Amino acid sequence: MTPNIRPLVAGNWKMNGKRDALGVVKQVADASDRDSLSKIDALLCPPATLLYVATTLTEDSALNIGGQDCHTNKSGAHTGDISAEMIADCLGSHVIVGHSERRTDHGETDAMVKEKAHAVLASGLKAIVCIGETEEERKSGKTLDVLKTQLAGSVTDKATAENTVIAYEPVWAIGTGLVPSVEDVTEAHAFMRAELVARFGEAGQNMKILYGGSVKPNNAAELMSILNVDGALVGGASLKADDFIAICEATASVA
Ligand code: PGA
Repeated sequence: MTPNIRPLVAGNWKMNGKRDALGVVKQVADASDRDSLSKIDALLCPPATLLYVATTLTEDSALNIGGQDCHTNKSGAHTGDISAEMIADCLGSHVIVGHSERRTDHGETDAMVKEKAHAVLASGLKAIVCIGETEEERKSGKTLDVLKTQLAGSVTDKATAENTVIAYEPVWAIGTGLVPSVEDVTEAHAFMRAELVARFGEAGQNMKILYGGSVKPNNAAELMSILNVDGALVGGASLKADDFIAICEATASVA
């Protein structure tokens, strides 16, 4: 954690979840109002097909609902895409941009991610900008160089502590059960903090930096205790209400 930063625990459902998963949204929404979770923000990013139903289900709770990606434009001839403005219209609060699966599956570059982040901010939403090294990059000692390049290339100049969240997700830790050591997470997050402060000054000091990649109920408290880790981006474990709530509770316990 970073002193004075309110942690965020965000769940990314990816291409999972049909209507029968709305029960999970409801369970997490109910839990989000617990006193024990008053020190953190919780967010679920279901697939776009469930977005509006999810925001309707959760409007009286503390749980936020967000999108997993958006187009750079507000509207137009882009079959199959959705815009940040549409997510805002569905009462979403955040949009994830630059997830490694988008970078790999759809060839998204840092420049495209930056443009998407820009579109998110222009729609009045908060951008969760994902960065992280591949296994090969880590093995060849390039992790910090990659983070530097991705931060510079993917985060817009309009970023503030209020409108932008960074999510550090080592690609090799996503969905694998592998997690970097406490020392490696500490080093990466301290490096990103220094880069953000150098570029944005005080805003960089206050910007949330999440860790993502195989966060589970049994490792969340340890990961969230690390300096400059201001919450989690959770994939697989966010599909189960009990696991996601347990990660929220573990985060709140060290906040
Ligand atoms: P995981 O996914 O928690 O299943 O590793 C994390 C992510 O891709 O955001």
